[in-house]
Amino acid sequence: MLISSATNPRIKHAGKLLKQRKFRQQHGEFVVEGVQAVAEALAQGWRLRQVYYHDESVRSEKALQVLDELDARICIELTRPVLTRLSERPENPAELIAVVAAPRDDLARVPVSDDMLAVVMEEPRDPGNLGAVIRTADALGVGGVVLLGPTVDLYGPKTVRATMGSLFAVPVAHVADVDGLAAWLAKVRETAGELRVVATVARDAGPVHDHDFRGATVVVVGNERRGISDELRAVCDAAATIPMTGAAESLNSAVATSIVLYEACRQRAAGA
Ligand SMILES: C[S@@+](CC[C@H](N)C(=O)[O-])C[C@H]1O[C@@H](n2cnc3c(N)ncnc32)[C@H](O)[C@@H]1O
Repeated sequence: MLISSATNPRIKHAGKLLKQRKFRQQHGEFVVEGVQAVAEALAQGWRLRQVYYHDESVRSEKALQVLDELDARICIELTRPVLTRLSERPENPAELIAVVAAPRDDLARVPVSDDMLAVVMEEPRDPGNLGAVIRTADALGVGGVVLLGPTVDLYGPKTVRATMGSLFAVPVAHVADVDGLAAWLAKVRETAGELRVVATVARDAGPVHDHDFRGATVVVVGNERRGISDELRAVCDAAATIPMTGAAESLNSAVATSIVLYEACRQRAAGA
């Protein structure tokens, strides 16, 4: 099938998925652009509903491989202007743009064990920060990310892009409020045994390198503007601060998360 009109219902559908959070939620699907990300979605077993491409723009081995592996019925050729219209980067559209089914939003997807490492983010508002945390979590082998309260859309195009494909490798789930989180933590403790829930705070806690991250740990990160709420702080067992010496009042939340996770992984690798 070749689609040559931007008013084709499938293209209009994908366009709405890119623009409207409500539409994404209604249909349980979202759009991902780029060969690496589409290949990762496929490799991780996510359901690709359509994969759009323009024949003459498909050049890389990887893109050809992905198209080859997929059921031909979901691979849909577009004319160059239609692909450009659909792309988030019209000046340089990716070889592949896919419509992907979102998995069920379920905390049970976050793996639990006696050496688990997971992240809780309270009300992240910036898609770049959320995407960067998911990307770091993937790179450092973190088991899952839990989003607490109202958040930026995990499946919005800016978040998806910022994850650079890691969205498909790390389980991410939402919990509505601190009571829901506390109930999940209680359940985790039944399996993981001793679990430490560590609040990261911009000041007034012991330095992060003095904290023991070797057992089952959940690292808690606050909202970009307000930090960690009192209610959330109350369900944490400890707090850690990355020492800062300059004039900055705090670190960016994704940067702080990366530093703390690096320290946790360093300690775990050292085993000491
Ligand atoms: C931009 S900061 C929030 C700033 C907020 N005004 C406050 O005072 O908490 C966002 C989050 O990043 C983390 N963070 C930022 N700087 C940190 C630091 N130096 N040590 C540990 N965590 C930090 C905390 O989780 C914080 O809630």
